Amino acid sequence: MADFPSGVWRYPTEIRFGVGEIDKLADACGDAGIRRPLIVTDAGLVRNSMITGARDDLQDSGMAAEVFSRVRGNPIGANVLEGAEMFRDGDFDGVIGFGGGSALDVAKAIAMAAHQERPLFELHVRSGGPAAIDGSKIAPIIAVPTTAGTGSETGRASLITEEEVHEKRIFLHAKMMPTIVIEDPQLTVGLPANLTAWTGIDALAHCFEGFCSPELHPFSDGVALEGMRLIKEFLPRAVEDGRDLEARGMMLAAASMGSTAFQKGLGAIHSLSHPVGARFDTHHGLTNGVFFPYVIAHNRDVIADKCARISAYLGLKKSGVDGVMEWILDLRKAFDIPHTAKELGVDPDRVDEIAAAAEKDPSTGSNPKPMTASDMATVLRNALEGTLD
Ligand SMILES: [Fe+2]
Repeated sequence: MADFPSGVWRYPTEIRFGVGEIDKLADACGDAGIRRPLIVTDAGLVRNSMITGARDDLQDSGMAAEVFSRVRGNPIGANVLEGAEMFRDGDFDGVIGFGGGSALDVAKAIAMAAHQERPLFELHVRSGGPAAIDGSKIAPIIAVPTTAGTGSETGRASLITEEEVHEKRIFLHAKMMPTIVIEDPQLTVGLPANLTAWTGIDALAHCFEGFCSPELHPFSDGVALEGMRLIKEFLPRAVEDGRDLEARGMMLAAASMGSTAFQKGLGAIHSLSHPVGARFDTHHGLTNGVFFPYVIAHNRDVIADKCARISAYLGLKKSGVDGVMEWILDLRKAFDIPHTAKELGVDPDRVDEIAAAAEKDPSTGSNPKPMTASDMATVLRNALEGTLD
């Protein structure tokens, strides 16, 4: 791998990128001031040699590392509370989030919540918010993504479902941004083709919705455009051949760029995806893939200029909204993403309830045009029926 590019990027946080970077995890802990790291990972990864090897390496370096893996997809408050208890009981002083988006989100939430005085669900953005969080009690975080999608490794937020009310809650604090991110393309090689595609579509939705958000943030716009270009070039390659390290590496970069881009906000793809995921436990990236074209269609009249820039920069076959729409539909078809929300398992009798939750979702405020619950219901019905005009 001598010719594989590597690098250290310090925007938006320190990213140590390259094949073999994971072998220097103990150094990263030292640099982040962590001596007793709690590794937080997905239940499905706990016996994987990536995790056992990392734990053994840390222990060999004299660190009291242990693993917490009671993390489910679409993670819930109980996952965070249990991990926070282990963190306190074991006297850990830092967290290593090692896995997919769920593991990273739970890791960041554990680091934030373990030593707060207030209960977890008084700290999310629709309750006390960042002002209610004592930043001095947030433990340092190292993030090691094993999927290229959520971008949680380069974000200050964590999404956790409040199980009592089936709502995804956002926890946000500047100190929840990982201190160091390790992006080693080898860690994503084992990801199956369908998860590669779905997580990649999530990264694309982050870049696209960030770019189309009306907020002023030229830095994010530049990152979003190049992120979309990388995804166009490398996601089909990563899905086709999981061992293509260049494609895997560029998708890791694109995923981190996606979450950097959505510092501008997201939009209705995510507004709909969040309540659907919280109710039907559907994969977040797959759910975004289903709603993607229906939201483009709904926003069509206000995103013409943005889509013209996307189609020009990416060299799409057609220009403007039509070009972006065709590209997204082609990608969905190539990745076997269902065309309708019915195929995803969304119950048509719950349209009004989902639409009401979607209107209240924090992503709605940055959709390119204002959306009411009635607008959300229209888009959701279109998605259930497969109607694109
Ligand atoms: Fe997302």
